[in-house]
Amino acid sequence: MSSNRGVVYVGPGKVEVQGIAFPELVSPAGKSIEHGVILKVLSTNICGSDQHMVRGRTTAPAGLVLGHEITGEVLEAGRDVETLKKGDIVSVPFNVACGRCRLCKEQQTGVCLNVNPSRAGGAYGYVDMGGWIGGQAEYVMVPYADFNLLKFPDRDQALAKIRDLTCLSDILPTGYHGAVTAGVGPGSTVYVAGAGPVGLAAAASARLLGAAVVIVGDVNPARLVHARKVGFETVDLSKDAPLGDQIAQILGVPEVDSAVDAVGFEARGHGHEGARHEAPATVLNSLMEVTRAAGKIGIPGLYVTDDPGGVDKAAQHGSLSIRLGLGWAKSHSFFTGQTPVMKYNRALMQAILWDRIKIAEVVGVEVITLDEAPKGYAEFDAGVPKKFVIDPHGQLPKAA
Ligand SMILES: NC(=O)c1ccc[n+]([C@@H]2O[C@H](COP(=O)([O-])OP(=O)(O)OC[C@H]3O[C@@H](n4cnc5c(N)ncnc54)[C@H](O)[C@@H]3O)[C@@H](O)[C@H]2O)c1
Ligand SMILES: [Zn+2]
Ligand SMILES: [Zn+2]
Repeated sequence: MSSNRGVVYVGPGKVEVQGIAFPELVSPAGKSIEHGVILKVLSTNICGSDQHMVRGRTTAPAGLVLGHEITGEVLEAGRDVETLKKGDIVSVPFNVACGRCRLCKEQQTGVCLNVNPSRAGGAYGYVDMGGWIGGQAEYVMVPYADFNLLKFPDRDQALAKIRDLTCLSDILPTGYHGAVTAGVGPGSTVYVAGAGPVGLAAAASARLLGAAVVIVGDVNPARLVHARKVGFETVDLSKDAPLGDQIAQILGVPEVDSAVDAVGFEARGHGHEGARHEAPATVLNSLMEVTRAAGKIGIPGLYVTDDPGGVDKAAQHGSLSIRLGLGWAKSHSFFTGQTPVMKYNRALMQAILWDRIKIAEVVGVEVITLDEAPKGYAEFDAGVPKKFVIDPHGQLPKAA
């Protein structure tokens, strides 16, 4: 039997590269499946969503093999796989989706009804998402492969652009979904909360969609420097000036047409003192303040049902002090949830292949080895302006 190694969550603040089982065509329930493929992983990215687990802010069990952002090469295909063969290079949407249920048929693959016995929606290497084994590893199994996988048209071209294409498994579609659901279009003014990879991907997507002005906010100065370097306006929420005033300095008015929450439940408060503490409803409340009447708010930032480290009893069960009355008074629309990656990944692949978007540069892709993953997790947690991409077999170009 072949060997495999992967990144394993061992406890709060700690991940390790360990020997793990070589993947088999078997579901988490132990059923043998022929609709899956085994992939040799080409690239697999560390995500802010992984950090919530690694910080001990979810109910993720020790021993979980991490990794939901996967690009790979087909090594073996089950008997029922019809459109893929050994050697194909594919992007794996982080959602595990069956392609058969009502919601998959309606393109809502983030909440597939057949891949997770405990709730709607599945993902690889993630707590409460169905037990599918993560792909921050040398090899991984992908079920319902014909439905889930996006095959790149040309192998050499895919390898040449892999630093960008690796962002198709999650952050680029997620940022794009955030911008689309915030109603961004030609001429929009946009505020994106969070200058992490998802926020930057949302900002780049807003630009792709024709936004007039894109403003990115964070409490992390290094990330704001990076955001400016790649062409966005910025606001610094660790300063005492309210968000609306900082936006008015740029736009002349304290409001934007569209807003995106690319932060989630681990949000910091605003202002010099506030930014030292966690304040989970801050982003949602501030977006209601700065979004114009009848505007839309895209919320890719993650909110959880259970958070052992929540700031108070209510937050420990995902109940936050949200000023819904304000959003109601302004007729706001809110869009939450896991991104249905498949809705967008083909179009965004074309945008990458035809140089319409330089996502690797925007998010600061840095390629690391599998053994460097624990260091990558630590640096990402410390807030460096980078997106770490693990290269488990040493096949990727190290620099752009
Ligand atoms: N919906 C989805 O399908 C989906 C997919 C991927 C990621 N996510 C979520 O998106 C969020 C962002 O992901 P990421 O990888 O960029 O994470 P990240 O942790 O790297 O980035 C979050 C950024 O928000 C900043 N921040 C904290 N408080 C803030 C505030 N009040 N205002 C503005 N910025 C603030 C942090 O300093 C950090 O730079 C996470 O919650 C992640 O779980 C959701
Ligand atoms: Zn992710
Ligand atoms: Zn389904």
